[in-house]
Amino acid sequence: MEAAQTIRLHGANLHWEAAGPAGASAAGRAVLFIHGFPFHSGLWAAQLEAVPAGWLALAPDLRGFGRSQPGHQTRYTMDVFARDLIGLLDHLAIQRIAVCGLSMGGYIAFELLRQAPGRVAALVLSDTRARADDDAGRAARHRAAAGARSGELPALLASLLERLLSPVSRESRPRTVERLREIMQATSPESFARAATGMAERPDSSELLPQIRVPTLVVVGADDTVTPPTEARSMVDAIPGAGLEVIAEAGHVPCLERPATFNRAVYGFLQDAMGGDAG
Ligand code: MLT
Repeated sequence: MEAAQTIRLHGANLHWEAAGPAGASAAGRAVLFIHGFPFHSGLWAAQLEAVPAGWLALAPDLRGFGRSQPGHQTRYTMDVFARDLIGLLDHLAIQRIAVCGLSMGGYIAFELLRQAPGRVAALVLSDTRARADDDAGRAARHRAAAGARSGELPALLASLLERLLSPVSRESRPRTVERLREIMQATSPESFARAATGMAERPDSSELLPQIRVPTLVVVGADDTVTPPTEARSMVDAIPGAGLEVIAEAGHVPCLERPATFNRAVYGFLQDAMGGDAG
């Protein structure tokens, strides 16, 4: 499959990156990487580079992020994002695919499970949570959305960046810090606001967890303070048969902070779950 492509869906041109042969999905060896907030598909560069032989990896830019157009929606609910992803899978004639979502990408994965459970062949939940926001959390999101729209985005991004990385990443991985900053700075104020508002409205997914019937791996950075290991453990306890991978010296974005370890865990899990050569 070509490395980068675009499709028009629900009023916007949406862009995705791909690695591996298009036909791999027919053999059940395909994975959809869903980025978090406020990132884009570049978050998954190390995963696309390391895609095992015979596997297809897709990494879309969610609506309004990266190279995808914003469209007309004033709020990016998880439902809006999930419908785009189902449209992408339909376009590529992919019936079933493993889904790996990081943080907001995990909230979207829960929405995919609600809307199209038959499309999800296996699940990786990285640095995410099933619970909805409480009132204070929702209010903070609405304040951030208003702030982004009134010129405060650079300050919001700077304070977020501080919280995302592990102490080891902040102190001794300057290229990781720089790459994450670059990815975040590509976010427009309006997309930041629309997604923050959409996340505030997301439903609680706790009740969904015991109903998950596909192989599931929960991954979390040991130093994640945004969605900490306690959240990951409570999801593992609730999802039948789920495994847990805690990645040392990583914060909220282990795919970027410890890519080799993340890839070993995720692709190893996918090999066991779906077969094929995970390299
Ligand atoms: C993310 O990384 O997607 C965000 O931290 C999610 C959130 O703000 O809940």
